[in-house]
Amino acid sequence: MCHGGRALYSMSSTRGSLIRHIRFICLLLILSLFQSWFQLLLLLCLVLFVLCYSLSSSYVSRLKGFALHEQNKRFLNQIHQVHLTTQPSTVPSTVPSTVPSTGIQYHQAHPHNYHFIMDNTEVCKTKNPFLVLMVPVAPNDVAARDAIRQTWANNSLVQGKVVLTLFMLGLSNRDNAEQLQEKLKQENLQHSDLIQSDFMDSYLNLTIKTMVIMDWLATHCTTAAYAMKVDSDMFLNIDNLVTLLQKPDIPKQNYLTGMLMWNRPVIRSKNSKWYVPEEMYPDPIYPTYTLGMGYVFSNDLPAEFVAISKLIKPFNIEDAYIGICMKKLGLAPTSPPDPSQFRAYNTGYNRCEYSKTITYILGSAQQLVQYWTDLKKPGPPC
Ligand SMILES: *[C@@H]1O[C@H](CO)[C@@H](O)[C@H](O)[C@H]1NC(C)=O
Ligand SMILES: *[C@@H]1O[C@H](CO)[C@@H](O)[C@H](O)[C@H]1NC(C)=O
Repeated sequence: MCHGGRALYSMSSTRGSLIRHIRFICLLLILSLFQSWFQLLLLLCLVLFVLCYSLSSSYVSRLKGFALHEQNKRFLNQIHQVHLTTQPSTVPSTVPSTVPSTGIQYHQAHPHNYHFIMDNTEVCKTKNPFLVLMVPVAPNDVAARDAIRQTWANNSLVQGKVVLTLFMLGLSNRDNAEQLQEKLKQENLQHSDLIQSDFMDSYLNLTIKTMVIMDWLATHCTTAAYAMKVDSDMFLNIDNLVTLLQKPDIPKQNYLTGMLMWNRPVIRSKNSKWYVPEEMYPDPIYPTYTLGMGYVFSNDLPAEFVAISKLIKPFNIEDAYIGICMKKLGLAPTSPPDPSQFRAYNTGYNRCEYSKTITYILGSAQQLVQYWTDLKKPGPPC
């Protein structure tokens, strides 16, 4: 066909009408054999007319086909917005996916770009922890750190296992940054539990923060068996976590667990806190990942994450980013033995419930101290 048909049905309908036109022309040709020159001229005119007609009709159907095509696209988009569980494979992605085949190196979020200001170099060698809890926290949020120091970080020995809690911070971007930095140094002299790197500490830089945590674990704490990234506004039942990690069927390698997120759509609404532009992550659905409030992993993984992150374009959703690292490594998160132990929403304090879970999201540092004190008072919780 002279026009590369855009839609299949417009091509077939044009072909049908052309066949009919050709039949008509043949009939006229046979007739014309017996007619005069004048009639042949008339016939030529007719042929021209027929050709013009077929051209214009196929153009119209082509237009119709294109409009339908656009409609289909819009319809597909609507399905994706409504149906959160659509498989990514059904959606043609126009941009190459996150993992470039050419081995493009994404250095922006790569932790080797940043340098430790405080790294507590010796802390893992001297304490030799079984489990390291890494808590990303805003530099000025000393209240959150103090609440954690009084509660789940207070006991360094849990069921005979050494547990170490460290706080991860970037640089403050506030006016009083210099003063704050001096305070942080004093705080670290007192507690030896701050890890600070020289990236700008901000919400959009959370993936950098997570990757710097992974870098620190991979370079300063290789002997620990497990680590956890846990947010500073969490209730953490550390006893239950250590119990979980000592179960015989918990893998010692390639293990990542927490609250699993399946088939989560990428948020494309610009007003959302979780907005991710298509240039940063083109696929509409994230691979399975563990919710960022608290995920636990075998300590062989941090070095793998750091290495693979060079090939994965960074974006601001740190937990989904770790999910993408896992997928690229050929791994997947594992459901915890009891998934109800990882809870994202706090429905109010209940001593019995808090004695059974591992994580809860809390409202404030005071809540953490209050609930913890109540949970630890003598007497059976249930
Ligand atoms: C921290 O733990 C010790 C025992 O290891 C206990 O004596 C102390 O009261 C605890 N501190 C707080 C603030 O709970
Ligand atoms: C993230 O950190 C980098 C390095 O410090 C900084 O240049 C950039 O402005 C930060 N981005 C945001 C959004 O804060």
